[in-house]
Amino acid sequence: MTFLFNSDARRGAIFREVLARELPDLPFEIDPARADPDDVRYMISWLVPADLGIYRNLEILFSIGAGIDQFNAAAVPEQVKIVRMVEDGIVRMMQEYVTLAVLALHRSWPVYLDQQRQQQWRAVAQPQAQQRRIGVLGLGMLGQAVLERLKPFGFPLSGWSRSSRTVDGVTTYHRADGLDQLLATTDILICLLPLTDETRGLLNAGLLAKLPRGAALVQTGRGAQLDQAALLNALDTGHLSGAVLDVTDPEPLPADHPLWRHPRVLITPHVASVTQPESAALAVAENIKRHRAGLAPVGLVDRRRGY
Ligand code: NAP
Ligand code: GLV
Repeated sequence: MTFLFNSDARRGAIFREVLARELPDLPFEIDPARADPDDVRYMISWLVPADLGIYRNLEILFSIGAGIDQFNAAAVPEQVKIVRMVEDGIVRMMQEYVTLAVLALHRSWPVYLDQQRQQQWRAVAQPQAQQRRIGVLGLGMLGQAVLERLKPFGFPLSGWSRSSRTVDGVTTYHRADGLDQLLATTDILICLLPLTDETRGLLNAGLLAKLPRGAALVQTGRGAQLDQAALLNALDTGHLSGAVLDVTDPEPLPADHPLWRHPRVLITPHVASVTQPESAALAVAENIKRHRAGLAPVGLVDRRRGY
């Protein structure tokens, strides 16, 4: 019975140490060539390895990230459980990033950064937080954590999910009609949805048009959810006032893409949350213990839903 770590050596060293402490009976291998494929019961990876089929006794394939859209789930045998990363480091980093992005948009930082480049000293109208409505698409691990962190600022908060959810202090919506209601009452829209067949291209011209004039977007889900041409158009017509993009399609964004130089857009290179190896290794160890005890791992992916 072996745990195969299929990612970078720096994080691998930390995983090795934590798993040796938490699961001393479980051999750990970072070099696939040194592992007997028949012994490999658990594997962690960002992508599904092309030779996954050789691991005939694999029980769990862990994603090193919170998202699993980069996994080709069809290439993973039905009996292998796919488990996404649910760990505190990812949550904390996303809370920081989205709070930073929301405050930057709320306090007109794209405008002031542009003015600074032109040596302009000019104040713009500043609404109070109580007048700036925040809407979050996705009420999962990250959407709910972000809403919790935003509460003390006093923004009116709402959120949207597939199934009906109750979140203290947040107006919640679900299904397509719920989405329209949320969009009509949102000044800063945050996307924290997984990429699935249903969410691919969801942030299109039609959706952006349903936001009030002057609204802004924080995209921290996956690049393929956003129609970037529609975003550019909405910014250029003034329908949207700004955007913070952590994810793009493709990644990296090509050097000549107009979003790079747009004065109302802030771009980061998919760094909102990065899996923290110490807490991630503990989460994986905990999940292996749960699995051995006959319990479902935390973050088990429902293949039918796609997340
Ligand atoms: P999660 O816990 O699985 O939550 C997903 C949420 O999205 C759930 O509330 C789900 O609804 C909702 N949802 C899914 N499909 C939907 C649909 N078609 N319509 C409406 N709501 C839908 O996921 P998470 O851990 O919060 O992560 C969300 C995503 O963030 C990841 O999949 C990943 O793509 C992205 N991410 C980005 C970064 C970054 O650095 N930029 C880092 C980590 C994660 P239900 O509640 O009804 O199931
Ligand atoms: C990063 O984007 C992740 O899915 O963890």
